[in-house]
Amino acid sequence: MTEAQKAHAGSLVADSFLHEMEKSLIPLKGYATRLGEISEDERVQKYQSYVDREIGRLIVRGQDMTRYLTDTFAPAVRPVGLREVLKDLESRVWVDCRTSGIAFTLDMKGECTINADEELLRGAMENIFRNAQDAMPAGGTFAVSVSPADKGKVMITFADTGTGITADPVKRVFEQFYTSGKPHGAGLGLAIARKIVDMHGGTLGAANRKDTPGAIFRITLPTS
Ligand SMILES: Nc1ncnc2c1ncn2[C@@H]1O[C@H](COP(=O)(O)OP(=O)(O)O)[C@@H](O)[C@H]1O
Ligand SMILES: [Mg+2]
Repeated sequence: MTEAQKAHAGSLVADSFLHEMEKSLIPLKGYATRLGEISEDERVQKYQSYVDREIGRLIVRGQDMTRYLTDTFAPAVRPVGLREVLKDLESRVWVDCRTSGIAFTLDMKGECTINADEELLRGAMENIFRNAQDAMPAGGTFAVSVSPADKGKVMITFADTGTGITADPVKRVFEQFYTSGKPHGAGLGLAIARKIVDMHGGTLGAANRKDTPGAIFRITLPTS
């Protein structure tokens, strides 16, 4: 086997392991939420939120690792509705929004079709959301908005009301293994997100908000 073949085989194993893990972790997260709903007891609430947080972390780390390993993956691109991708993102993170006190808002007029591997692209957006969640430990707003950009392009903006980005310059957040302000960061989420957006012929940028504390991430993508 060549090195590339070995890397590919390794990534397939990692990927199937991740899928197996997720199949259990996602319902587990749901059970923990149900437990929290059954009892108002403060301790139950507290430990429920810990279980929830750790499971979420494990899922994200697993995804980060496999995506990093699967450098060889080929995106399965097809025409998809952007609204569908964003709605899907919302439903994947709604439990987290509820437990973390985050309001998820979506501002999109009409529909827009893009050529994308929707799972990969949603994964990139989920990484942006997870970081926003980490930056808003006391809750806040995660506002997603879609607007037309230059000709043939669409811009998706993700604005949070968290601590803002402390990296200097801000673009350092896209470096592999750059992590700051959290105990268990791997520093891969945004490097992967950028790689995914690049694959789609788009751009991913970051900035701090001017109107209020918080960060803004912008994805531009070609429309089809
Ligand atoms: N929404 C955000 N608000 C504040 N800081 C952020 C935000 N998103 C990313 N960052 C910063 O960028 C770093 C890199 O993010 P990422 O690549 O996802 O790695 P990780 O989340 O594992 O640290 C984070 O550790 C954090 O310091
Ligand atoms: Mg991250």
